[in-house]
Amino acid sequence: MKIFIDTANLAQIKEAASYGLLDGVTTNPSLVAKEGKNFKQLLQEIVEIVDGPISAEVVATDYNGIIKEANELAKIHENIVVKVPLIKDGIKAVKKLTEEDIKTNVTLCFSASQAILAAKAGATYISPFVGRLDDISFNGMDLIKQIVEIYKNYNYKTQILVASIRHPLHVVEAALMGAHVCTMPFDVIEKLFNHPLTSIGLEKFLKDWEKSNQ
Ligand code: G3P
Repeated sequence: MKIFIDTANLAQIKEAASYGLLDGVTTNPSLVAKEGKNFKQLLQEIVEIVDGPISAEVVATDYNGIIKEANELAKIHENIVVKVPLIKDGIKAVKKLTEEDIKTNVTLCFSASQAILAAKAGATYISPFVGRLDDISFNGMDLIKQIVEIYKNYNYKTQILVASIRHPLHVVEAALMGAHVCTMPFDVIEKLFNHPLTSIGLEKFLKDWEKSNQ
């Protein structure tokens, strides 16, 4: 399973990339706005840090506007994946962008029916938001299970990119289900490393070693 970081923060991207396990980056308009930097310049910097898919979202909501923005974003670097919202004009645009070999990530997916449309349009990735579904008392991981099954049934090529991840259990469950990618905030990447028995065990090994006077 690929691990992407869900942020536009350069320090976090650099730190996560330094572990050697980072496969890509996803951003969204809220994450970019938080950084207070020029969007395209920020993307230029991100592509230099991570050699993998970098999702950059359009803000247009009409077909022509989405296509125009998508072409501008795709021109920045070959690793840019254009993130498009799961609305009618978005899906129409994804179909067209796929024909033009522009990679897409269909975002704001909250149902299996939406995921079917994205796959039929030829999206490179579908981003179901699990945490936001959990927030409204629907088990977000149930949606991932459904999409995995549906995509397998029809051999759809669209990769399932589990988004809106809030904790390591989301990551483990996604891996058990066979999702292709998990994108997560920096703090969740950090948490993947941790186990109290590892810390306790290491402390004991080092203390015992010290006692041996070697
Ligand atoms: O980037 C899309 C998604 O991962 C957003 O997550 O935490 O804002 O629901 P969140």
